Amino acid sequence: MTLRTADRPTVYILHENPEWLPPFTRALDEAGVPWVDWELSSGSIDLTQAPPEGIFWSRLSASSPSRGHAHAKEVARSVLRWVEAAGRRVINGSGVVEFEVSKVAQYVALAAEGFDVPRTVAVFGREELVERAQTLPAPFITKHNQGGKGLGVRRFDSQEDFAAYATGDDFEEPIDGVTLLQEHLVAAEPFVTRAEFIGGRFVYAVRVDTSGGTFELCPAEACAVPPAGFAPAVCEVPGAEASQPIELQAPAPLFTERTEITAAHPLIVRLEAFLAARGIEIAGVEFFETADGRVVPYDINTNTNYSPDVEAANGYRAANAVSALLAGELAERYLAAAV
Ligand SMILES: Nc1ncnc2c1ncn2[C@@H]1O[C@H](COP(=O)(O)OP(=O)(O)OP(=O)(O)O)[C@@H](O)[C@H]1O
Ligand SMILES: [Mg+2]
Repeated sequence: MTLRTADRPTVYILHENPEWLPPFTRALDEAGVPWVDWELSSGSIDLTQAPPEGIFWSRLSASSPSRGHAHAKEVARSVLRWVEAAGRRVINGSGVVEFEVSKVAQYVALAAEGFDVPRTVAVFGREELVERAQTLPAPFITKHNQGGKGLGVRRFDSQEDFAAYATGDDFEEPIDGVTLLQEHLVAAEPFVTRAEFIGGRFVYAVRVDTSGGTFELCPAEACAVPPAGFAPAVCEVPGAEASQPIELQAPAPLFTERTEITAAHPLIVRLEAFLAARGIEIAGVEFFETADGRVVPYDINTNTNYSPDVEAANGYRAANAVSALLAGELAERYLAAAV
């Protein structure tokens, strides 16, 4: 099977989870914008052929291996290099994929710009896990370099507990072999914040209630209700039995807008500059405000899903804003396009 192409300039959506597409394709349909989706799990490209005319939007997700798409990032890298080399306009292109699939890439870039990031040790393979954990005071957490959905996020309250985990059969092998050991951040209040950016501009910030203890924070409608035939999301929960994964059956955590956070907020101003410098056009950046007064960005999601609860309350339609961005780019490059 080859990737489907349209016979006129079109918005191509690169992704591997159809569950997350409807809000965007609805918005595109309503605006009369032609689109085609390319699932990053199969297909083929002939490198001697030019890619189709259109605008390309990558929604590669770090958590793609958890949906059986272990090679999605390699497919995305290949397809994006191909369309970029031909000069096509790409939103969240190949450089952004590298941020999506590597928290190391995120932390070192943020730190280089002076952001306060969580102290983190990246361990390659298993050999040095126990030894390097000694450099972090307990409690500390683990997470996967290529994360998403809170993959591999576990809290450890002692070196002994961690040593048992790291050397035992329950150890969760990260898809890229890179485990992060990270300082445990304590929020002043039980929430984290996710600031959404579209077209590089801040749109709104969401308060994510973490009092339920979950590390899985997907705001999409598709995440809230497990589809029939699929197991509920398996997440990690901090606390007493923290090193054991549990099955999350409870409702998704509460998402509400933080209206006091505006584009003028000092962190938002700096994040906009950071994203612009790296060509990250659509992103949700998560940050902690800690009990000791730190403001710590710790996760850049370039495949973002928007909370229907938040948008029911604030009336904003992020999917429409994304659609308008794509339509504008399509119209700018292909004036004859019917948009
Ligand atoms: N250093 C930390 N200290 C305490 N809690 C943390 C820390 N890092 C992450 N968490 C908690 O775990 C959650 C998931 O972490 P993180 O966002 O880094 O992983 P992820 O796999 O990218 O998840 P997602 O795709 O849901 O954003 C965070 O939102 C936060 O509640
Ligand atoms: Mg996160």
